Amino acid sequence: MKYLKYIFIFLFFSQVSCEKNKKYANPYLQDVSFSRSINMDLPEYASLKFANNSVLIQNIGLKGVIVFNTGSSFVAFEASDPNHYPSGCSSMVPNQFTCKCDCEGNEYSLYDGQQISGTGQYTMKPYHVSQSGNILHISN
Ligand code: FES
Repeated sequence: MKYLKYIFIFLFFSQVSCEKNKKYANPYLQDVSFSRSINMDLPEYASLKFANNSVLIQNIGLKGVIVFNTGSSFVAFEASDPNHYPSGCSSMVPNQFTCKCDCEGNEYSLYDGQQISGTGQYTMKPYHVSQSGNILHISN
């Protein structure tokens, strides 16, 4: 009986740690490694200093990476539509706090990557962002 308490504590913490390590999985989007730093003092990224602005960074990820200033943090998402295999039209273009795919019009929120309209079950693929002054480091 004495050991039962320790077993429950162990099971509880192993569950919590499993949740923390849960990875984004999506059959349409291959996992690619990259690392890029951007300087928000440069004109092409300067809009990110203000809330509700987004920038598409080309040539990283699968179809580029969309970086967004939520007002309280920075987030980064894969620009390839998460609900179809990458194709000639699946690169999404950000428009302030949403982004839309040109193929069949799937649309997503840049606050959390959730789908707003269209069809599919997957949210946008998130990437890691860290900030050091006016430098943002985006990686996967
Ligand atoms: S690839 Fe985006 S709507 Fe189909």
